[in-house]
Amino acid sequence: MRVDLSQAIHLLQQGEVVAIPTETVYGLAADATNDEALRKIFATKQRPADHPLIVHISDIAQAEHWATDFSSKARQLAEFFWPGALTLVLPAKASVSRVVRGGESTVALRVPHHPLTLDLLKRGQLSVAAPSANLYTQLSPTTAEHVEAGLGEAIPVLDGGPCQVGIESTIVHILPDGSWQLLRPGMISAADIAAVIGPMSDTRSAQSSEKVSLPKVPGQHLLHYSPRTPLSLFNDKSTLQQAYLTLHKRQKSCAALLIGDGPAPACALVSLPAEPVIVAERLYSALHELDALGVDELLVELPPDLPEWAAVRDRLSRAGYQKT
Ligand code: TXA
Ligand code: MG
Repeated sequence: MRVDLSQAIHLLQQGEVVAIPTETVYGLAADATNDEALRKIFATKQRPADHPLIVHISDIAQAEHWATDFSSKARQLAEFFWPGALTLVLPAKASVSRVVRGGESTVALRVPHHPLTLDLLKRGQLSVAAPSANLYTQLSPTTAEHVEAGLGEAIPVLDGGPCQVGIESTIVHILPDGSWQLLRPGMISAADIAAVIGPMSDTRSAQSSEKVSLPKVPGQHLLHYSPRTPLSLFNDKSTLQQAYLTLHKRQKSCAALLIGDGPAPACALVSLPAEPVIVAERLYSALHELDALGVDELLVELPPDLPEWAAVRDRLSRAGYQKT
């Protein structure tokens, strides 16, 4: 069910869930201060209750309501990248709902870069928890249509058009001593972060007195972001082509996702230019499209193992099994 901005604000203020656009993927939002509303997110997604949620705030000033220690490193990153596809995991204030923290002592914060959602947060004076608006472990949505296809027509959706970044935000854990760890790669790279606050800490050499247990990151589970169709990954077009021929001989149907120019199998396919930003933007759409064909298997070409492809490779390797 499509809703407009005022309806979305009203529903959120009433403790309902609403799917909202962000620049990364669509989020399934609920008032981050309302435990009953937050529980509806877990129920709708069929997501385990101990998985924490990202709190979306309207500006940097809101961060102090959630984090005890908005340290200089966190502030530097926020000032540089917000609004944007960067989530900061910080020590949580005691007042932050345990439901949103999934029982952790930290809270994840981000200011999303989407005009409609920034308007919603400001006009509604809201902070919303929002995981991706899909069923647990399935493909993330980058359009309102994807949300409806995955969660059903009854979910209220604020349509903000297709997402521009296309894959989930980078998650950075800032420790009390100012060191940092990358919990999930995204289009803001580890090198981009290091350019602002210095190199990532080496966890093995951390002082024992300063050891902090790593929070759980359900996005790091294998078999996340998966289409319904079995998906196999290939390092190059020739091994993918061989797999296609084998399937063809066994009278199995397939569809392929290719990156860059080169020989293509004679099946349904989506071919994306070898540009990380473009592949990220179109990745989930391409997978949704190929998944909808109802073929026996999806054959997906992995981009090269280079830093600029880290986020795309991370999502793809969780969506499927690699054939070596
Ligand atoms: O781009 C995004 O981040 C999207 C849009 C909607 O903002 N959201 C998203 O949410 O990807 P979700 O729930 O699918 O992934 C949230 C990730 C999970 O891996 C979770 O573990 C981590 O954020 N996270 C949330 N709160 C955390 C916390 N307190 N400590 C550690 N990790 C946390
Ligand atoms: Mg997700």
